[in-house]
Amino acid sequence: MKKLWENNLHGEQSQLADDFNSSIAVDGRMLAEDVKGSIAHAVMLGAKGIIPQGDSDKLVAALSDILAEYEGGTLKLDYSAEDVHTFVENTLIARIGDVGKTLHTARSRNDQVALDTRLYVSKEIAEIKGLLKSLLKVIAAKAADNLDTVMSGYTHLQQAQPVTFAHWLTAYGAMFMRDCDRLCDCDKRVKISPLGSLALAGTSFDIDRNMTAAALGFSGVTVNSMDGVSDRDFVIELAAAVALIMTHLSRFSEELILFSSFEFNYVTMSDAFSTGSSIMPQKKNPDIAELVRGKTGRTYGNLMTLLTIMKGLPLAYNKDMQEDKEAIFDSIDTVKACLSVFAPMLEKMTVNKDKMLESANKGNICATEVADYLVKKGLEFRTAYAVAGNIVKECIDGNYTLDTLPLSVYKSHSGLFDNDIYDAVDLKNAVSKKMSEGGPSVKSVKAIIGKISKVAEEEN
Ligand code: ARG
Repeated sequence: MKKLWENNLHGEQSQLADDFNSSIAVDGRMLAEDVKGSIAHAVMLGAKGIIPQGDSDKLVAALSDILAEYEGGTLKLDYSAEDVHTFVENTLIARIGDVGKTLHTARSRNDQVALDTRLYVSKEIAEIKGLLKSLLKVIAAKAADNLDTVMSGYTHLQQAQPVTFAHWLTAYGAMFMRDCDRLCDCDKRVKISPLGSLALAGTSFDIDRNMTAAALGFSGVTVNSMDGVSDRDFVIELAAAVALIMTHLSRFSEELILFSSFEFNYVTMSDAFSTGSSIMPQKKNPDIAELVRGKTGRTYGNLMTLLTIMKGLPLAYNKDMQEDKEAIFDSIDTVKACLSVFAPMLEKMTVNKDKMLESANKGNICATEVADYLVKKGLEFRTAYAVAGNIVKECIDGNYTLDTLPLSVYKSHSGLFDNDIYDAVDLKNAVSKKMSEGGPSVKSVKAIIGKISKVAEEEN
């Protein structure tokens, strides 16, 4: 397909260079954005009298047809075009002739591609947020079912203190709420229009940049035309936000993989979301969670790719920037695929409440409660901590747990102990007393679920 830049100054380009330069295989997916941006531009050109109103109307009608036919599957991309912008403009000119040639008045591919990328990225941010919200809904529902499912909380992967499965789940909910917030924040900077920056130096035509920005749902225009065409911060921000979502999904996956192991057996993956082994018939493998954990790596790689592409680039546009799309598209595709499969996997997973309780019962995880008990009876914490340590040693030596250790043994360590120590070391009591905001008590976790549900129900 003819180049947009073909003229008498240019000799023939080698096929090798042509292939190397071509980006339509990657940026072809921005066709809708390219057309929408072009329609906004054509309308503005007409409204400002830069081209005749009749020509503007013809451009808009032909561009709308192109989009409708592309979406309907009757118009296919021509991969011999250099990029999606070339394809759209050449298709337009083939259809309406010279009028089509007026579209690129007061525009450059440099501001055009920056605009298309912003439009595309913003649309995808909305989709990723939608998927995050679906996951938040599953988390909220599962947490509501497990408000009193006691499990051990861990630090250093050692049993630490009793929490509930709902408390554990909503910790991930908190992460994904932050992710939603981060995406909203990123989108604010995405929705700023670079159109009207042209190649780098603006234009002498009397354009209205705010008109095109508003028509596209953007909140403003970029402040400097050189920056407008060469800023890819918004792509990097999204790649970073995606990398963080994937970090959270990866941690979540790691724990589910661990918890579904024979030794833990806290959860059982549904057959619909696990695989068998080709050689070991007893196996049930959490492949989905493992793949999510594995795919996290590529999103980190994409972030690094983007940062490195931009590092050291002189102002303004450089062709290096064409490389941003493959990286950000891959991050977007990856996080969407992961979120799409993770939510139903979590929903269908069975929670083995008895196993969690049984395991929590064995680890003397209420030792801190023993210390707090003594503090509430007047002992200073550091001394109480030492007494509690000795009590745990008694348990280990005598093969007791804190709730079976005889009162006489407790009393031999401190006269402050009484029968109510057994209430203090009861797992459910230990959890229900943690009423501090954000803690594991039913009341606290219900409040967390309320916050998660609010975000999950919010309009995008
Ligand atoms: N395909 C190019 C890109 O994605 C479009 C911009 C071309 N501009 C130029 N000066 N060669 O970056």
